[in-house]
Amino acid sequence: MIHRMIIDTDTAADDSFALLVGLLHPNAQLEAITIVSGNVDFEQQIQNALITIEVAGRSGEVDVHLGARVPMARPWYAASAHGDGKGNHDFPVPRQAPSVERAADALIRIVNENPGEIDIVAIGPLTNIATAIMLDREFPQKVRSLQIMGGCDNSVGNVTAAAEYNFYVDPEAADIVFRAGFDVTLVTWTLTLARALWTRAQLAELSALGTSLSDFFTILDTPNLEFNAGMKILGSTHPDSMTAMLLVRPDLITASGRAFVAVEHASEMTRGYSLIDRRAAPERLNATMIDDIDGEGFYLAYRELLARGPRG
Ligand code: BDR
Ligand code: CA
Repeated sequence: MIHRMIIDTDTAADDSFALLVGLLHPNAQLEAITIVSGNVDFEQQIQNALITIEVAGRSGEVDVHLGARVPMARPWYAASAHGDGKGNHDFPVPRQAPSVERAADALIRIVNENPGEIDIVAIGPLTNIATAIMLDREFPQKVRSLQIMGGCDNSVGNVTAAAEYNFYVDPEAADIVFRAGFDVTLVTWTLTLARALWTRAQLAELSALGTSLSDFFTILDTPNLEFNAGMKILGSTHPDSMTAMLLVRPDLITASGRAFVAVEHASEMTRGYSLIDRRAAPERLNATMIDDIDGEGFYLAYRELLARGPRG
């Protein structure tokens, strides 16, 4: 099945790897990329997305729309795991320029032109998605599915003990999105540590593929690997590319279930905490939790993508 998708991204490292899934996987038809404030400087994120398109051999084929430059109610908070998000490496200046149409407008236009046909993969703070809801109240019902990377399964986060980065940065937006009525699938940081942590041996195998895409992957991945080592995480983490891959390869999902999900935005101590309640009454269930996946299968699917190389 071909998935027509929009990827909403704070483009740095693993976001770029998720874009490669949209740009190159045979089951994906990427309709647009929308950029949201998050991981690194906003202008850098734009460049990182355009560089990724160039490396994928798809220059000029997928529009990049610029969205929220700050979260809804908080100052911008950078992630410390990614350097400049492109492996601190100098790539040639990409040929493509960003679109003049803003992210929320593009999201609304594309979804309204194709009601019930577009999947959104949201791999950054949820500011752009919340903005689209505020501009078009029926937006959630017209989106086919919303795949979100964020939160923890009632366990320790990667920014604070309570919170994962994407929900921590814009908890107000996350709150709006989870109450809006989307068909949400949630991929958490908890699952990332369990199933999308690639060892140095696996990374060496990817590097040895020797394709232009595997070189790109290794360059961008290295700061994350080094950052994680300092956090006693043995390998590099791939939450965003896992989220994109599970959309086009749902056969990799081995356990999932419905839950009520809510994001804390009032308490400073637990800011961005994701409450995941599987005991909630049926009418309150608002998300499908991905509880487990075939982690080796995900790695192999990604390896195949890098081995195949760019389009064209
Ligand atoms: C999420 O935060 C970002 O740093 C990553 O890109 C990912 O989307 C993981 O917590
Ligand atoms: Ca991200």
